[in-house]
Amino acid sequence: MSNPLFDLTGQVALVTGTSRGLGQYFARALANAGADLILTSRKLETLALFEAEMKALGRCVVSLELDVRDEASIRSMAAEAETAFGQIHILVNNAGCNVRKPAVDVTWDDWNLVLDTNLRGSFFVAQSVARGMIHHGYGRIINIGSVTSVAGYAGLGPYTASRGGIRQLTMSLAADWGKHGITVNCLAPGWFKTAQNRVMYEDEGWVEYLVERIPLKRPGQPNDLDGAIVFLASESSRYVTGQTLLVDGGISTGALRATVSQKEKK
Ligand SMILES: NC(=O)c1ccc[n+]([C@@H]2O[C@H](COP(=O)([O-])OP(=O)(O)OC[C@H]3O[C@@H](n4cnc5c(N)ncnc54)[C@H](OP(=O)(O)O)[C@@H]3O)[C@@H](O)[C@H]2O)c1
Repeated sequence: MSNPLFDLTGQVALVTGTSRGLGQYFARALANAGADLILTSRKLETLALFEAEMKALGRCVVSLELDVRDEASIRSMAAEAETAFGQIHILVNNAGCNVRKPAVDVTWDDWNLVLDTNLRGSFFVAQSVARGMIHHGYGRIINIGSVTSVAGYAGLGPYTASRGGIRQLTMSLAADWGKHGITVNCLAPGWFKTAQNRVMYEDEGWVEYLVERIPLKRPGQPNDLDGAIVFLASESSRYVTGQTLLVDGGISTGALRATVSQKEKK
């Protein structure tokens, strides 16, 4: 029998950006815990295979078009989601993008793309879904942050600003909506190989450099996020709000060696 503290049977989870990558990891973990799903992408056809996989688990699944840079798209997605299920219990604000460039090369459009998608988009999706949650007096909102919510990385200026903003936004929304039975938390993954950063993992030297700085000595794997997302989505986190939970193998500790290496000793 499943543990009621982590059981999501009868709950509906909306996960944005489920055409690939972490969005699919999150949706799969929530479905395995019993949740029905609303999946989104800017291109509906990219959701077909994943929708079939989730339905095969016995879940009700609805796929909807969503562009988080378009206010009308957000509003119509939220309305369709409510029509489909009546109540959305869980929102995972996962849709996001990145532009990797030295700060001096970042353009006005780069900045707008990343901030509009990651920060403005997450706010207005949360606002649209929270209206229904307020009506029902219940909700779990999980904003996806990053290790860059708490640390600075060269070449990620706009991204880091957006992720720091997500952490602060999480605290503000938690303060706003706690009285309505809604918790708002930030789940901040470390380094996971996906389409967004695949090119980095093609550079063996960089992977070695990365792993050296991760206390658990490897990048993240898909199911490393399962426990954290189910915890924040479920009854087990009922008295947790406004928090950022880092799932990063410890890289946010700033793990630099403070002893000399064997090589240096010789
Ligand atoms: N990978 C990592 O190591 C890592 C670490 C920390 C945080 N994150 C964050 O976790 C989230 C997922 O990352 P990922 O690595 O899985 O990225 P990804 O593979 O690039 O997937 C991004 C997802 O976001 C959606 N998306 C992008 N722009 C959108 C828009 N304007 N409107 C609606 N949906 C949009 C994409 O959907 P469509 O293109 O189909 O519309 C796609 O499903 C992102 O927010 C990312 O910043 C990733």
